[in-house]
This record gives sequence, structure tokens and C-alpha cells, in this order.
Amino acid sequence: MTILHAENLRKSFFDPKRIDVIANISLQVRAGESIAICGRSGEGKTTLLHILGLLEEPDAGSIVIAGQIANRGNAYLLRQQHIGFIFQSFNLLEDFSVIDNILMPAHINRQRVDSKSPAYHMALEHLQSVDLLDRLEQKAKLLSGGERQRVAIARALCNNPSLIFADEPSGNLDRANAVRIGELLMQCVQKKKKSLILATHDPALAALCDRRFMLQDGALLCYTTHGKVF
Ligand SMILES: Nc1ncnc2c1ncn2[C@@H]1O[C@H](COP(=O)(O)OP(=O)(O)OP(=O)(O)O)[C@@H](O)[C@H]1O
Ligand SMILES: [Mg+2]
Repeated sequence: MTILHAENLRKSFFDPKRIDVIANISLQVRAGESIAICGRSGEGKTTLLHILGLLEEPDAGSIVIAGQIANRGNAYLLRQQHIGFIFQSFNLLEDFSVIDNILMPAHINRQRVDSKSPAYHMALEHLQSVDLLDRLEQKAKLLSGGERQRVAIARALCNNPSLIFADEPSGNLDRANAVRIGELLMQCVQKKKKSLILATHDPALAALCDRRFMLQDGALLCYTTHGKVF
């Protein structure tokens, strides 16, 4: 089953001069599949993830998620129902506690989030898997970079999305934590049949994925574990 089907995506920026960040990209992602998007800084990985994750509109092209063509009217709902996003800059609510940050998507979805609710129990489970159960009540602004990253991951999993986007998920982590986060994301994909699209500079993380692409001059090129581009 195809969970995401993007066709002929284009995106240019004109500030200060024109750059065609996404020149003509098509991509199909199957349920349960993991995909790595590699590429130099500034090549457009974040832009591509934002477009595929319906956070930003392309200039041209179409995106179908779980059989529905995305448009301005349904993008918000499609995101809520199918997508979890781990941002490069985390986007945590600084004055809220760890647990409140994680429960925010459920709260927005108008689910119960009290301490007896299924959402709360799910949140505890995810917090445990990122090893932050003891930081439940800590305000986000007091966490270290790596801890924030792990909260952002737990939050992305909160709504049980079928499609997870992770923008440099190991970017701020030491080697041991980077490996753990990589394993956690892969477990999610394999055990729970989720799909994962991640942008990464980390060859070890990219090597864990089923397919690898290099984003270069606005195009997606295939990329082997040995670093060969074709
Ligand atoms: N809103 C915008 N307006 C103008 N230019 C933009 C905008 N957003 C991104 N860009 C430019 O588009 C290019 C791609 O940016 P993007 O953040 O997608 O790259 P990236 O591959 O994620 O880089 P990094 O590895 O450093 O995170 C960059 O040159 C950036 O300056
Ligand atoms: Mg980026």
C-alpha cells in the first residue's frame, strides 16, 4: 500500500535571488518503508520534508496521502490523522512541561489527556522509550538540546501517525543517543508498520533506512550505503 505519492513537485525561492530548491521531484512511499534524504546543507531537505508533510505548499505538483489528494482545505486534517513531524528546530512550547508538550497533538485533536486517559498512557510509553520518564514535569526551556530532540520525537509519535517525518533527528545528539534514536525510529517503522522519511547528514542513520536519496540541485538521486550516487 502506498501511503504517500508525490508527483512533479516544484518549489523556488526568490529572496534575494531565484533558487529552484525543488526542481521536479516525484516520490512514492509504501506503508512500513523508511527513506533517508541526504544532501549538503542548504540543498532543500527541510523544504522538501515540509512540503511532503503538508506544512508548506509547493509551487506545482501533487501530493496524495493515504489515498487523498492534499489541498488547502484538507491539509490540516490529513496532518492530524496521518502525520507526525520531528522538526529540525524542535518547535517545543518552551513554557510547557515535557508531558504537556507531548500531549499537545492529542489535546489539539480534542482527545482526553488526563492522567487516566489512553493518550496519557501512550505518552508515558513514548517518554520511556526516549528515556525521559523522570523529566515529565520539567519545563521544555530547561532541557538540553538532546533532551529536547527526544521530547520532539515522543511528541511526533503521540497521535500514532502512519507517516513520520524526521528532520535531522540525530542532529543534536551524542553518538550513543543518536544510535538509540535511530533504533527507536526504525522499531516504530518495523513493529508498528509506520513509514519514515528522514533528512540526515548522518551516514549511519541513513544506512538503517530501506532506501536512500541524495538531494542535489533540486533533484532526488538514488544513493547507496557506500555513498555512490546515480
Ligand atoms: N522562506 C524562504 N525564503 C527564501 N529562501 C529560503 C526560504 N526557506 C529556505 N530557503 C532557502 O532554501 C534553501 C534550502 O533550505 P533548507 O532549509 O530546505 O535546506 P536544508 O537542506 O534543510 O539545509 P540544512 O542541512 O542546513 O538543514 C536554502 O538556501 C535556504 O536559504
Ligand atoms: Mg534542514
